[in-house]
Amino acid sequence: MKMLITPSILSADLSHLQNEIDSVASADWLQVDVMDGHFVPNLSFGAPVLKTIKTTLPLDVHLMVSNPADRIAEFAALGVKNITFHAEAVPETKARKALIQAIHAAKATAGIALNPETPVSAIDDVIADIDLVLIMSVHPGFGGQKFIPSVLDKVRAIRKKFPNLMIQIDGGIDPKTAVLAREAGANNLVAGSAIFKTLDRSAAMKALRS
Ligand code: DX5
Repeated sequence: MKMLITPSILSADLSHLQNEIDSVASADWLQVDVMDGHFVPNLSFGAPVLKTIKTTLPLDVHLMVSNPADRIAEFAALGVKNITFHAEAVPETKARKALIQAIHAAKATAGIALNPETPVSAIDDVIADIDLVLIMSVHPGFGGQKFIPSVLDKVRAIRKKFPNLMIQIDGGIDPKTAVLAREAGANNLVAGSAIFKTLDRSAAMKALRS
């Protein structure tokens, strides 16, 4: 299974965002961390910022927000590739299924994210409907945090049951933890500081791939 490398622009120099995005042109996807200051303590950016950037990379929107259903239309209008919402923000099955349908209607793939403390069983009701599971290996809200290795058990458990599902892992991913994530069965690595806090971004992404 091809390993996708997905730089997270939260860790980029936001005062030169277009240049930063140009510097990761060899990535597979580009992740936009949308934070509302309510579901997570941090406040980041949304569709108005995304509208200003030019890239041919597929856009991966990670909604760390309490009301993800309200955000789908604006990202659909931008033709994003994937939209991921948090299981913790949408506990009811009916609402989850409606949200997944809305994301699919927006011609995007649908992802569901699990915080480190949330068990895989929390998404038993929709795992057959989604296109991607995002396993958070840090507590969401900030870049530059330390990888939480215990989440690898969740990657292994999902990979064992769903050999073809895209499993994305996000938080503290660097060349060392990328090996652990790959061995556990992840096939999409999100990295912020390991890429944007280095000078040679292509080399940083190559180091994650190898
Ligand atoms: C954290 C974000 C992550 C973060 C990754 O809430 O979802 O994408 O930006 O940054 P690093 O790779 O530095 O942990």
